[in-house]
Amino acid sequence: EKGGYEYFMLKEIVEQPRAVADTLLGRVGVDGTLTLDEMRLAPSELRDVEKIVIIAAGTSFHAGMIAKYAIEHWCRVPCEVEVASEFRYRDPILNRQTLVIAISQSGESMDTLMAVRYAREQRARVLAICNVNGSTIPRESDGVLYTHAGPEVGVAATKTFLTQLVACYLVGLYLAQVRTVKFGDEINAVIAQLANMPEQVENVLATIDPVRQLARSLSDASTVLFLGRHVGYPVALEGALKLKELAYMHAEAFAAGELKHGPIALIEDGLPVVVVVPSREGRGVLHDKIVSNIQEIRARGARTIVIAEEGDTAVHPFADELIEIPAVPTLLQPIISTIPLQVFACELALAKGNDVDQPRNLAKSVTVE
Ligand code: BG6
Repeated sequence: EKGGYEYFMLKEIVEQPRAVADTLLGRVGVDGTLTLDEMRLAPSELRDVEKIVIIAAGTSFHAGMIAKYAIEHWCRVPCEVEVASEFRYRDPILNRQTLVIAISQSGESMDTLMAVRYAREQRARVLAICNVNGSTIPRESDGVLYTHAGPEVGVAATKTFLTQLVACYLVGLYLAQVRTVKFGDEINAVIAQLANMPEQVENVLATIDPVRQLARSLSDASTVLFLGRHVGYPVALEGALKLKELAYMHAEAFAAGELKHGPIALIEDGLPVVVVVPSREGRGVLHDKIVSNIQEIRARGARTIVIAEEGDTAVHPFADELIEIPAVPTLLQPIISTIPLQVFACELALAKGNDVDQPRNLAKSVTVE
């Protein structure tokens, strides 16, 4: 069952290249044409969309946060993202021109399901992004895009998160094509890069062993902070969540630009801080700002653990530990930058003797509100 691995989580992390390939399978034509018929939303309906609202919980919420950056950039449609448990209690503004995207691995989370029901009552169109075929949320939605990651047994989401990202990118790119807002070079280039992601995921996994040793060296830390910017911010949140779920450690993530507005006061000698550095392509300003952040926290004693692109020499002088990942387009970086954080949390949890498949107090799908 576990394919020779001691835990499902380890198996599921290693399965990610195939999972990502399966999400793409049959959906990306050789010429870059996207086929997403199961969405059951006609191009005319998609052209009428005036606002997108993404609802999700936990790790799926982090996928939604990343989707917002991609969709607004590619499609120029305003996009909100909200945790499902808050959504229907604040009187959200929805109508026929609103596309609600509900992201749920299990398709059964009660918070997300109730938000879907509420959205449909308000006459919004609802698209589900789910992993479990025939589950409740896709059945109650107008359309669905399955992630096809295969069954995930580990309670903490890994391969389903990467495939949710891929599904969100497919929706965003398809919407951009249909609405022809930015049709052409950029969209086609991203589609080609997306099709190449299984290979990039494989490349990251091939170089992951040093992360395991690093994690083990941190098993006595009382807290770990995570910093990121742009799409690296939700990745930082996901890294912190994984550490809480699996290693039962206090962990917190911040948008790196917020550091100076408070969290920098937490920095003290030896405090481990994981920094997700944005790609240099197209986001040079953010890259430089985060390099300054790393410099600032290190000067105050932090032990900096830096995830950056290969050859990003600007970060080298300030990285106590360097985790290199391949250079990919900025918006797609979360697909690969998340992997070291999964391995980091998993290994730290194992070092503490925790059961990474069945963390205490958690359930794979939460069917109460
Ligand atoms: C939690 C799970 O309770 O539900 C998380 O433990 C998951 O791993 C979250 O991210 C949301 O679940 P789903 O199935 O709606 O994506």
